[in-house]
Parts: sequence; structure tokens; C-alpha cells
Amino acid sequence: MKKKLYIETYGCQMNVHDTEKAVSVLSNAGYESTDYPLDADLILLNTCMVREKAARKVYTRVSQLKSELRTGLGASRALPLFGVMGCVAQAEAGRIFDRCREVRLVLGPQSIARLPELVAQVEEGFPRAMDVRLSKEADFLELEADRRNGKFVAYITITEGCNKFCSYCVVPFTRGRERSRPAERILAEAQSLAKFGYKEVQLLGQNVNSYGLSGSGAGLLPLQRVRQGGEITFAALLTLLARESGIPRIKYTTSFPRDFTQEIVEAMDAHDNLCEWIHLPPQSGSDRVLRAMRRGYTRSDYLEKISLIKRAAKDISITGDVIIGFPGESEEDFRETLRLVAEVEFDGLYIFKYSPRPHTPAAAYSDSVSDEIKAERFERLQQLQDSIQQKRYSRYLEREVEVLVERTSARSTLDFTGHTRCNKIVNFRKGGCALGDIAKVKVQECRPHSLYGEFVSKVI
Ligand code: 5AD
Ligand code: SF4
Repeated sequence: MKKKLYIETYGCQMNVHDTEKAVSVLSNAGYESTDYPLDADLILLNTCMVREKAARKVYTRVSQLKSELRTGLGASRALPLFGVMGCVAQAEAGRIFDRCREVRLVLGPQSIARLPELVAQVEEGFPRAMDVRLSKEADFLELEADRRNGKFVAYITITEGCNKFCSYCVVPFTRGRERSRPAERILAEAQSLAKFGYKEVQLLGQNVNSYGLSGSGAGLLPLQRVRQGGEITFAALLTLLARESGIPRIKYTTSFPRDFTQEIVEAMDAHDNLCEWIHLPPQSGSDRVLRAMRRGYTRSDYLEKISLIKRAAKDISITGDVIIGFPGESEEDFRETLRLVAEVEFDGLYIFKYSPRPHTPAAAYSDSVSDEIKAERFERLQQLQDSIQQKRYSRYLEREVEVLVERTSARSTLDFTGHTRCNKIVNFRKGGCALGDIAKVKVQECRPHSLYGEFVSKVI
């Protein structure tokens, strides 16, 4: 009988994709997935470290699972093997063993390929196994098209790690230095996904715009040289994928303001399959706070990038992230953020309360903004964003949008749900199209975080 793997994933799309890679390498080693911890021989938690709340979750989740399993399995059966992978594993390493005696396996995001080997070590009787090495090599784990969660939308890693060292951010310490994957491998993966019928790919990286800039150091080469494995810019990579991948919808995330260029917007305007959505987090609207965050741009630099996007021929949706309550953030700094958000008019905004992270320079600053003030600023910014979002969403009323039909709605089995090209959720009554189609839908109702419409016609 095959051994069973149960895995839980926290954090960003990068982590979701890492889980697909972990499932893939373990199924090559004879494991099959289960949705039930009670059936599992191996339980993995793929963890996130970006904020303290997310990081603490791993410990509470291990003890929850342990007591559920003890009750469910009774005294007769041994507990399954527990492993922690992902960003918390990388940052906390052996300390996880000290805090959770059940955990016998710890591995960082760059060690997924070694998972079967490490599992085997523990199964063979070693008390513990750990691999949290960070390498500078561009060594990417390749994933087959048929080993993914979804059948229509797929993630493709284009860069790993980050060199920005923003003062609050733990990512350079959990995912290491930035590495770019060779363009021809990215193209081959996209082409194979297209053959398997995928309609959308999302290119992933902590900072996709610096793609190619920090690879082998060979300098930037023109597009035609890419076949020889040279480096190209992100704009050139987008153009290459748009022309040659055969994928109808291409999206990407996350963009970094300083590395975002006019050429990227030009590429998006030139190719129909490059979708109208950019996630460009400002983090703050105050120059003083941006400097303390070491973001490397000013408020006016950021707004310049926004106007590049707004001047595009396409109507591009912009989303962002903001951190409130960064050490030293005054009421005036916060008002600058409110003003920036009002000026940009984001289609979606993720607001985070600042949380000190280990290893980061900001962890040494005094976390001076109280929880009450953080909560109050969060509310004010959220209210502003809600009103902006209502206005932004209402533009779609009576308009036709293209929706990738991804699944039956969780709210009603009568409805399909999917995303627009600009990454908004749309629900509509079933009929006239099937899962995996791209459908034209006429918007009849604008809700705070989604649109509701009626099917018009099938596009592909
Ligand atoms: N505290 C709060 N939010 C953070 N983020 C990253 N680090 C922190 C931190 N220490 C937010 C940023 C980033 C998003 C993924 O998480 O806004 O863009
Ligand atoms: Fe969390 Fe960042 Fe790691 Fe993603 S890369 S899982 S957001 S810490």
C-alpha cells in the first residue's frame, strides 16, 4: 500500500507552488496525497514567516494536530511523522525541534528536492533530519504540468529569493539571494502547460521586475540571444512568453517599484495575452518612513511608476500592500499614506500591521506605535480603501468582462466562479460554458470584493 502524505500550506503563492513541488517529489518517491491527517503517514506544514502571527501558527497547529490524532488514532497506533518546511523552517531551524518534540523533519524552501531522502533518513531510524542550507546557485526544481493543484491556472517560478533587504522583511533570510531561472526553461514550462490545456499562468517571484538582473552576471542580452541561455530583462521575458508560450492569459506578481519600467508597460500594451493587472506595493506614502524601510524610492518615484501604468493604452488594474505602524510612523506619516492611497485609487489593497521579524534591522528599532494606534490606523485606511474599491468596481457595471471559469462557487452550486484578466473575482449563473472555458460575462452587480454577472458567450 502506498504511504500517505497530508500537507497544509500557509503564506504566499510561492509557498502554494512549493507545496505542489513537495507533493510532486514525494509522489515520485511513492507517496499519495490525502485530505485527512488521520490517514497520513507523513504530515507536513509548509509555513510562512512574514508576520509574527503567521509564524506562531506552526506551533499551535502542531499541537492541535497532535491532540486530534491522539484522540482519533487511540493508543494502538503511533503518530505519523511530522515535518515543518518553508520559511519558518528556514528561519528557526533546529529551534523547532526544541519547541515541538513531535517534529522530526525540518527543511527550508531550497531543500524540497531532498525531501524523499530526508524522510527516508527518519524512517530508517535517525531521530531527526534537517536541511536549511541556502545556496547562491540558480538551482530550480522543475515541476511537470500534471502535478499541479489546478487544471487551468498554473504558477511558474521565475525568480527565487530577494536582494532588497527592506528593513522590516524576513524574506532575504528565508529565501536567500535572488536567482533568476533561465528564460528557455520558463518558456518550455509555459509551452508544456499550454499543451496540457492551461489557460492562465502566473509568473512568480519576490521581485519579478529584477528578473535577469542578478543571474550569472553575463549582462543583459537582446531577446534573440535567449535561446543560447543568456539573460534578458523582465520586459523581454514577458514578450517572449507572450509570443511563444501559447498561453492565453499571462499574469505576474510581485512587482517592485524601483525596478518597474516603461518597457514592461509597453510589452503589456503590445500583447493581448499579457493581462491588465499589476501588483505594485507602495508599503507607505511617507518619504520618511520609506527611507526607514530602506525601500530605495520616494513617494514621488512611486507615483511616477503609477502614472506610467495609468498612461498605458490598456486599462490596467493596480493592487498594492501597505504596512501601517512601522516604527516611528507619526500621524502625519500615516496621513501621507492615506493621501497616496486616495491618489492612486487601488483596485485592491492589502493592509498589514507592522510586526517585528527576527534578523531584520527594524527589529532593533523600538516598535513605537501602540497596538491601539495600529488598529485605529488600520480601520481608517480600510474604510478609505473600501470607498475607493466601491468606485473602482462600479466601473464594471453593465460592462462585459472575460472570465476564466475556474470552479463551482463555494456559496452556490448554481454558480461558476473565476477571475477576470484584471484579477477580479466574478460569479455568474452556470449554463452556456464549462470549467476551463474563457467566457464573456456581463456585470450586473458590484459587490465589495467581487462582481456578479450573466454569461454572454464563450471566447475560447
Ligand atoms: N510586518 C508587517 N507586514 C509585513 N510585510 C512584510 N514584512 C512585514 C512585517 N514585518 C507585508 C508587506 C509585503 C507583504 C507580503 O507582507 O506589505 O508586501
Ligand atoms: Fe511568507 Fe514571505 Fe515565505 Fe511567502 S516568502 S511564505 S510571504 S515569508
